[in-house]
Amino acid sequence: MDRIRIIGGQRLNGSIPISGAKNATLPLMIASLLTDETLILENVPRLADVIQLQRILGNHGVDITIAGKRSGDDPNSGRTLHISAKHIVDTTAPYELVSKMRASFWVVAPLLARMGEAKVSLPGGCAIGTRPVDFLIMALENLGAEIEIEAGYVVARAKNGLRGAEIKFPKVTVGGTHTALMAAVLAKGTTVIENAAREPEIGDVADCLNKMGANVTGAGTSTIVVEGVGRLHGARHSVLPDRIETGTYAMAVAMTGGDVLLQNARPELLQSALDTLTQAGVTVTPTNEGIRIARNGSGLNAVDVTTEPFPGFPTDLQAQLMALMTKAKGTSRITETIFENRFMHVQELARLGARIHLDGETATIEGVAKLKGAPVMATDLRASVSLVIAGLAAEGETMVNRVYHLDRGFEKVEDKLAACGAAIERISA
Ligand code: EPZ
Repeated sequence: MDRIRIIGGQRLNGSIPISGAKNATLPLMIASLLTDETLILENVPRLADVIQLQRILGNHGVDITIAGKRSGDDPNSGRTLHISAKHIVDTTAPYELVSKMRASFWVVAPLLARMGEAKVSLPGGCAIGTRPVDFLIMALENLGAEIEIEAGYVVARAKNGLRGAEIKFPKVTVGGTHTALMAAVLAKGTTVIENAAREPEIGDVADCLNKMGANVTGAGTSTIVVEGVGRLHGARHSVLPDRIETGTYAMAVAMTGGDVLLQNARPELLQSALDTLTQAGVTVTPTNEGIRIARNGSGLNAVDVTTEPFPGFPTDLQAQLMALMTKAKGTSRITETIFENRFMHVQELARLGARIHLDGETATIEGVAKLKGAPVMATDLRASVSLVIAGLAAEGETMVNRVYHLDRGFEKVEDKLAACGAAIERISA
């Protein structure tokens, strides 16, 4: 298994290209199941999760081709996928595939909407909490699906098609909103989704669905209205930039000091995280090309943050912020309200000398003057990268083990950081 070796202490200077968003790419690829025509997705990141979803869609009969690079193409631009679900040959998503990635459960919605049936294994995914799918099932039932749980599988049927309905989520859920949206676009009549997630990735999927002929309004607000249509057609769509990757590198620069342009990043996708960095004493400058992050000389201030659904501070940047706060002046508090068990990085950060006290959903971090390198273990995707951030500022060598978690969601992390002066390398097993 690959490892990442970091020698801490180098400042970061230069520019880092931001890739297409993982959490938009996955539902966009899944949306291809809604039509028998080709969906062309541009700016797709090179990630293990994308390859895994390719396998899962392949099992349903979906053909995916990756367009080659042409001369003159930007070497940093993402891939272009041509996705064709002309013939769906199987409406079952088996345990062996779904258990590796939670988002793959979302295939239930387009399969049900287009084929009238789907049998999808209950999901697995990162070990960050119990992560049930009850709201997703409720949304499909509201739209007229009959659902049974059989031997670990959700079996959904709608022999006469789905019909528009009101869906009110008791709690904001990204996956629930994607599921409701993808099921409602082909339902008969009007669907109103209340307390919908407002994450930018929902807006990106809605934009793509509209290009495919759907009639979705209000995405990006907490009420989404969908007028069902008879069929969808092919389209071309470019994936929006990854706000979590953006925030992650912003925190890396904040941690080491230096000056880096995050190319293609869009500030409105992560304003609350940028405000937090500003409070911490980091200089954040939006430019025409992206966002410049700089910290020169001054130390880091401690901040108090609570994770919230968008537009609040994202849970997917909580671990990275915690790594940063280990070196702040004073005591910071981070409260995690989205996932109950998303603190696996705490004990690993402690191995580097961080002082963190956990009490229920709140971590209290007492800033220390120095971190010291050590071997650490990546436990989930965002936790892994928090260890990289800490390693960049720790004295001596930090070896991050089990980096396959990192490869699920960060494209070429060691190359992007090394290009800005970090002493970081991958050691292949
Ligand atoms: C999405 O997960 C993201 N995944 C997660 O990113 C992200 O952390 C999360 O949204 C929150 O922003 C993708 O987009 C692929 P939820 P999702 O449904 O949709 C509870 C990463 O690192 N809930 O918004 O699974 C749930 O337990 C990943 O890239 C129910 O109780 O999250 C949680 O407490 C990790 N019942 C809360 O809602 C349900 O049926 C929000 O979860 C569904 C959710």
